[in-house]
Amino acid sequence: MTPEELKALIRTIPDFPKTGIQFRDITTLLGHGPGFAATVEWLAGEVEGAEAVAGMEARGFIFGAAVAARLCLPFLPIRKPGKLPCRVIGVDYELEYGLDRLEMDPGSVASGQRVAIVDDLLATGGTALAAAELLRLAGASVDRAAFVIDLPDLGGKDRLAHEGVVVRALMQ
Ligand code: PRP
Ligand code: ADE
Repeated sequence: MTPEELKALIRTIPDFPKTGIQFRDITTLLGHGPGFAATVEWLAGEVEGAEAVAGMEARGFIFGAAVAARLCLPFLPIRKPGKLPCRVIGVDYELEYGLDRLEMDPGSVASGQRVAIVDDLLATGGTALAAAELLRLAGASVDRAAFVIDLPDLGGKDRLAHEGVVVRALMQ
């Protein structure tokens, strides 16, 4: 499938979860088997060479875990607060429509392990930057991130580039 055909599978919901937000909904892409498979294939091609894939709860789990399995790599879940039963490290961050926190198991990464970040959407970059910070705190090397959608007006790509993370996105 072409990037344009995949883009046509994304649904836009106005004013969700807050007035003024154009919510780009991947549910309709997930509900299309060939579209979901082609998206996972594209993301996997972009992160090939990494030694592990990290994905952020919740939508990053869907694509990140599929990409990791496709490449036979470990998947590192980066979770919303209070979910992991082990000792955690955490980072607070801001996103397009609020504040949140991410946590991970610091023991899940080997020192210097090359970890790629995968998520559905890049907006301000706050989530991906928090994930990169956490992964680096745990000892990982993070130099790339792959997204299904980039919202270029929100500047996430430049913020990540400034922190040494190269961004790839299937569509804008
Ligand atoms: C969404 C999306 C990204 C993030 C992008 O997740 O899945 O992770 O926002 O925004 P940013 O670039 O401004 O940080 P959300 O926090 O809404 O959580 P969800 O995956 O649980 O829906
Ligand atoms: N996460 C942050 N901004 C978003 C948007 N506009 N649509 C879907 N997910 C988002």
